[in-house]
Amino acid sequence: MSGAPAVPKYDPFARLLHWLVVLLLIAQYIVAWTMPGIHRGTKPVGLIVVHLDLGAFIIAIMIVRVVWRIVRKEPDVVEGTPFTRGVAYLTHGLLYLLLIVQPLMGWANASSRGWQVTLFGVNLPSLVPTGSALGHTLGDAHRLLAWVMLVLIGIHVAAALYHHFLLRDRVLRRMA
Ligand code: HEM
Ligand code: HEM
Repeated sequence: MSGAPAVPKYDPFARLLHWLVVLLLIAQYIVAWTMPGIHRGTKPVGLIVVHLDLGAFIIAIMIVRVVWRIVRKEPDVVEGTPFTRGVAYLTHGLLYLLLIVQPLMGWANASSRGWQVTLFGVNLPSLVPTGSALGHTLGDAHRLLAWVMLVLIGIHVAAALYHHFLLRDRVLRRMA
């Protein structure tokens, strides 16, 4: 190695995972809001299956991402005051948490409806029994947290654009 790079970036795999999850989430929100309304007795067909498959894939990618987050070498944080860096860490931490917990709640709701969730055609276990009241409640939480996550994403994207266009620092390029 010939010294520290001029712009400390996230490593290529971390960047790949970041943008892959962004694309998957855009697709997932579009599917979620286009798929037919889900009621008692609804059959898991068409876009609903796409929603379950995409969601299971997002959970799998997030597990890889969390492991990578723990084992990888993080670039030094050079930008920001202790306060803004604290806010960034908090937002990122909450995003990681929601990206795991929110889809798990959807999975629990699917299980409570007696739906089989698969990952690349492999059957995943049911998280709760069919008819579970907990699974029903977690479905409500799943829909609500989808909005909470969207607000956080909005704050996160606004912060990235603020850094790039107004502060004109290197934060956005760390992930580009
Ligand atoms: C990050 C990933 C996910 C996002 C952003 C997401 C988003 C959403 C949204 C916005 C809705 C509400 C749709 C509406 O109001 O019509 C919804 C409903 C639902 N999602 Fe997800 N979802 C994700 C992952 C999953 C996963 C992994 C599963 C199951 C394997 C799942 C199963 C469901 C079910 C069963 C419903 C209906 C819940 C109900 O109405 O009680 N979702 N999802
Ligand atoms: C679905 C939307 C998004 C989600 C869920 C998301 C999530 C995250 C997470 C969890 C991190 C922390 C990475 C880590 O420490 O391993 C991160 C970092 C970052 N994201 Fe996003 N992101 C999203 C969209 C975007 C977009 C659209 C931009 C650019 C406009 C962006 C720019 C960045 C930047 C620049 C960083 C690094 C910040 C730093 O150096 O501290 N993200 N993102």
